[in-house]
Amino acid sequence: MPLVTIERHILETQRRYPGATGIFSAMLYDMALAAKLIARETTRAGLAGILGAAEDHNVYGEQQQKLDVYANQTIFRMNDHTGRLCVMASEEHEDIIPIPPRFDTGKYVLLFDPLDGSSNIDVNVSVGTIFSIHRKVSKGEHGTLEDVLQPGRRLAAAGYVIYGSSTMMVYSAGQGVHGFTLDPGVGEFLLSHDNIRVPATAMYYSANQGNEKYWTPGVRRYIKWLQGIEGEGRKPLGHRYIGSLVSDFHRNLLRGGVFVYPGDLQKPGEPYGKLRLMFEAQALAFLAEQAGGYASDGLGDILDIQPHNLHQRVPLFIGNRDLVEKAEEYIRKYDQEWVAAYQPFRNQQPALT
Ligand code: AHG
Ligand code: MN
Ligand code: MN
Repeated sequence: MPLVTIERHILETQRRYPGATGIFSAMLYDMALAAKLIARETTRAGLAGILGAAEDHNVYGEQQQKLDVYANQTIFRMNDHTGRLCVMASEEHEDIIPIPPRFDTGKYVLLFDPLDGSSNIDVNVSVGTIFSIHRKVSKGEHGTLEDVLQPGRRLAAAGYVIYGSSTMMVYSAGQGVHGFTLDPGVGEFLLSHDNIRVPATAMYYSANQGNEKYWTPGVRRYIKWLQGIEGEGRKPLGHRYIGSLVSDFHRNLLRGGVFVYPGDLQKPGEPYGKLRLMFEAQALAFLAEQAGGYASDGLGDILDIQPHNLHQRVPLFIGNRDLVEKAEEYIRKYDQEWVAAYQPFRNQQPALT
């Protein structure tokens, strides 16, 4: 197989699909460079003394790991001066991040979760970066919240990086999902997984079983169905849960499976679960659909949700379409109380003033 770099892959895709512009290869290169720098720090984390929590906390009140801070700064620095973006948004920043006035602006929006699975940094378990690219829709030169709070259906591209046994970048610009593995000797990401498709037969389900006590009746029955205990006695799925969404998603993408992080009624007024729509769920839902899978918040397609808040959280069921649709079926049948509590959050409209 010839050595196919990200650039060559985009150029070849461009020839087949005239719509895919060369700007994607440039933006993917910006992300690839950031990924190489973060990969280097991740492998050195234990040595460079950047382990352990940074002094400040992020918007969710979670202690920021220093690698979170480094990854966030690196992605910003690799992208702020390129003239390709009109605005950025990061899981680690409360508000949208404007392009510094001294740099040109462009017609794309970059959203990112700079370090996903940060609780795993100190125990040497794989972590990742998640990113998505929207097109500018507002009139002015600089991007606004309106450019960021777009539904996933309008995404131009999305992807993730995994810092694991090898460093991989997986992306889609709407023409299939493609995986590149970093050859550290060459310093290039080389095509290793062309046109990834979710296998028709799933092997795993991923859920934090420690939360079972709080799950709603429908979700609890659904998990029992996945285990072959409830319903028509299907062959049980293996249980794999790493605690880094990118790693759990990646394994299920390659081997077939479903990842479940549901909402619950444990905290009144917070029925929407933990994962972030704009920085995690939208990007992975785009990739799942491109690979023949599906992502839902339990009521419907993640890609059809009109975001209303930069940091809004959604329940996430993502992977093989038949397994995700089964979750929706159980929730419709047994979780009316939860649906009634969650629906108002899902239907909220953005205040873009
Ligand atoms: P982040 O490190 O960006 O905050 O993301 C962590 C997320 C996600 O990666 C993972 O699937 C989930 O948190 C794990 O949550 P629990 O520890 O509650 O299972
Ligand atoms: Mn995350
Ligand atoms: Mn994160």
